[in-house]
Amino acid sequence: MPFVWMKLVLLNLFGILNTNDLVVFGLGNLALNKPNRQTSYYYGGKFSSKAVDGHLTMGNTQCSHTNNPTDTPNWLMVDLETEYEITSIKVLNRQGDEGDRLRNFTVSVWQYDSGPHIKYNMVDTEYCICVHYPNTAESGTWTNLTCTKICMGRFVLFVLNNPEPLTICELEIFGDIYNGCSTQYLPEMNIKTVVGKRSSPPNCTLLPYEVTNVYECIHQCLQMNNCTSFNYGPNLINTVNCQLVRCFSHPKQDFTVDSDWNWRYLSR
Ligand SMILES: *[C@@H]1O[C@H](CO)[C@@H](O)[C@H](O)[C@H]1NC(C)=O
Ligand SMILES: *[C@@H]1O[C@H](CO)[C@@H](O)[C@H](O)[C@H]1NC(C)=O
Ligand SMILES: *[C@@H]1O[C@H](CO)[C@@H](O)[C@H](O)[C@H]1NC(C)=O
Ligand SMILES: *[C@@H]1O[C@H](CO)[C@@H](O)[C@H](O)[C@H]1NC(C)=O
Repeated sequence: MPFVWMKLVLLNLFGILNTNDLVVFGLGNLALNKPNRQTSYYYGGKFSSKAVDGHLTMGNTQCSHTNNPTDTPNWLMVDLETEYEITSIKVLNRQGDEGDRLRNFTVSVWQYDSGPHIKYNMVDTEYCICVHYPNTAESGTWTNLTCTKICMGRFVLFVLNNPEPLTICELEIFGDIYNGCSTQYLPEMNIKTVVGKRSSPPNCTLLPYEVTNVYECIHQCLQMNNCTSFNYGPNLINTVNCQLVRCFSHPKQDFTVDSDWNWRYLSR
């Protein structure tokens, strides 16, 4: 960020700075203990949280692990809860022969809910690809990657472009605070509809409203910090016809089929 560099230059002029001070400006690992999801989980507590728990161990029980047989593609998502400019990532691979499963992966960054768009081999025209890694990551060590372009967003999605289970011992994400004006992105925004479904992610309190039409519900969502999608039904159910969803929606697990509701999500 130019502003940070200017500060560094000024500090240097006064002789305050030595090279060790540079780390002071880093935000550190943005992913640490942030909300997370993965495709599915392998038995024995191999939750996605193991990928962002700060335990830099490569033992089999200390890593996230999606299920086998797999619901493809396998992915892991971290919600950074606010927008950042993502600049690099580091991934700690498991030890042993099965470490070769970690190959050909794509890390993308999203302002909006990525759930409806998850697929193999994502392309950069639809969302911001931080990095596509076509190689096989080395077992039992870190693969440290600089984004091929800086991506602004809140959700970081790690997709494995092969049908293997995804195991991550630690995923670290680095970037800068995004403090610019995001209006440059608004013209690209769309609101998409999934008919006859309602999203209700676990550990996510839906904010209920009574509105007179769908535009009022859209308005509530756009005004609300962290709102990425909402459920809207034309008829009031217990005085509610608009529910704001402020968490990532797992594309397979969080939906109930319900003809009274449509799920709408902010998209590009
Ligand atoms: C909403 O975002 C803020 C940061 O802007 C974060 O601190 C907070 O935990 C988030 N809340 C929810 C419900 O996601
Ligand atoms: C990576 O995965 C994509 C999508 O499945 C595929 O098209 C591509 O050939 C793969 N690349 C390598 C190096 O295996
Ligand atoms: C990658 O990151 C890890 C963890 O921060 C670090 O220990 C390691 O030295 C880095 N590797 C390279 C090649 O920079
Ligand atoms: C929901 O929260 C509980 C308690 O913090 C946690 O054990 C569980 O893993 C969470 N579920 C999801 C899907 O994040």
